[in-house]
Amino acid sequence: MKIKRVLKWSALAIVLALFAWFQVSYWTSTNDYEQLTAAQGETMQAVVYRDYGSPDVLKLETIAKPVPTDAQVLVKVRAASVNPLDWHFMRGEPRIMRIESGLRKPKGMRMGVDFSGLVEAVGKNVTQFKPGDEVFGGRTGSFAEYVVIAEQFLIPKPQNISFEQAGAVQIAGLTALQGLRDSGKLQPGQKVLINGASGGVGTFAVQIAKTLGAEVTGVCSTRNVDMVRSLGADHVIDYTKEDFTKGSARYDVVLDLVGNHGLLAVRRALTAEGKYVMIGGPAGGWIAPMDTVLRASLLSMVVKQEMGFMMSKLNRDDLMLLRDLMAGGKVTPVIDKTYPLSQTRDAVAYQETGRARGKVVITMTPEEKTGAGIALR
Ligand SMILES: NC(=O)c1ccc[n+]([C@@H]2O[C@H](COP(=O)([O-])OP(=O)(O)OC[C@H]3O[C@@H](n4cnc5c(N)ncnc54)[C@H](OP(=O)(O)O)[C@@H]3O)[C@@H](O)[C@H]2O)c1
Repeated sequence: MKIKRVLKWSALAIVLALFAWFQVSYWTSTNDYEQLTAAQGETMQAVVYRDYGSPDVLKLETIAKPVPTDAQVLVKVRAASVNPLDWHFMRGEPRIMRIESGLRKPKGMRMGVDFSGLVEAVGKNVTQFKPGDEVFGGRTGSFAEYVVIAEQFLIPKPQNISFEQAGAVQIAGLTALQGLRDSGKLQPGQKVLINGASGGVGTFAVQIAKTLGAEVTGVCSTRNVDMVRSLGADHVIDYTKEDFTKGSARYDVVLDLVGNHGLLAVRRALTAEGKYVMIGGPAGGWIAPMDTVLRASLLSMVVKQEMGFMMSKLNRDDLMLLRDLMAGGKVTPVIDKTYPLSQTRDAVAYQETGRARGKVVITMTPEEKTGAGIALR
C-alpha cells in the first residue's frame, strides 16, 4: 500500500517536473534576430524570419556578408529553389521538429538550401575552385545574395544547364536518386510507380528511373499528364480518373511523394517482394507524417514487402552523378515558376499549395544584387 502511494506521488512529481521544465524551456527559447539584422561592415540582402508562421513572417533584411574560412568558397547566388523543407522550418511544423529548430522561436532564422551561382572568392586552402566558376549545391540560408560553403560540397555547374535549373537540384535531385537507387534498389527492367510525378522530386524521379532502366509509371493530375510523359514515363495514371491502388498492375517499387493512400492499399499495388519507399506525406500538427512512418516500419516487420521512410542525405558523389546526368542530357530540371528575391513570400506560398509543376525558383535580379532598398512583398 505504502509502495503504491510512493509510486503515485513519484509519477506525479516527474510529470510536474517535466511540465515545469517544458514551460521554462519554451518561454526562454529565443533567437538573436536583433544581432543578425544589426550588421555592420560588408553587408548583403537575405530572407530571414524572427517567428514561426505563414510566409508573412519572411523579411528581406540587411545582414552581414559571410566571409569564407580557409577551406570555404564564397558564392554570389544567382538562383535558389524552394522545397517543402523550407516551409516546414518557416512554420515549425510538424511541431515535434521544434525540439531541434527552437521551441518558441526559430533558432536558424535563415531560409533556403538549394542554390547556384558564381564563385566570388576562395579561402587559401581551396584547390578546386576559383573566382568566376559557375557552381551549384546546398547551404542553409541560400535565399540571400551570398553563401559560403566548404569546397567539398560545391559542384561545378554543367554548361548546358541554366542557373535557375542548377539552383533547383540538390534536395529534390538527391531525394529522387537515393529513393530509387538506395531505398528502392531499383533494377533495370523493374516496374516503378512514382506517386506525385509532376512535383519537384517527382520530375527528377521520372527521369532518373528511366536512366536506371526501369519501366516507369507516373501518377499526376490531368493537366500534368503530357508533361510527365514528356519526361520519359512509359505510362501515366491520371489520379483524377484512376486509383493506382485499385488497378491490376503490380510494381517492384512504389516511390511515394504524396502519401494519400493507406498503407494496406499501397501494399496491394506491390509485387510479392516489392518495396514501398515513403518520401513525403501530409505533414503538420504535432508529428505527422512520423505516425505513418512508424506504422510503415511496423507493417514491414510482418509482411514480405519492404515498407519504410527514406530521408535523403547530402553526398558529393551523388551530386556529381546528378551533374553528369544533366551534362549528358539525361536529366533536365523542370522549372515551374521563378520569382525575384523580393517576392520570396509569394514563391514559398506557391510551393505550399502543393500544386507546383517541377521546381519553384527564386532568382537574383541585377537590381537586387545591388541590394538597394528592396522591400519584400
Ligand atoms: N524524405 C526526404 O528526404 C524528402 C526530401 C524532399 C522532399 N520530401 C517530401 O516529398 C514530398 C514531395 O516533395 P516535392 O518537392 O516533390 O513537393 P511538390 O513539388 O510540392 O509536389 C507538388 C506535386 O504533387 C502533386 N500532387 C499533389 N497531390 C497529388 C496526388 N493526390 N497524387 C499525385 N500527385 C499529387 C502535384 O500535382 P497536381 O497539381 O497535378 O496534383 C504537384 O505536381 C513532400 O512531402 C516533401 O516534404 C521528402
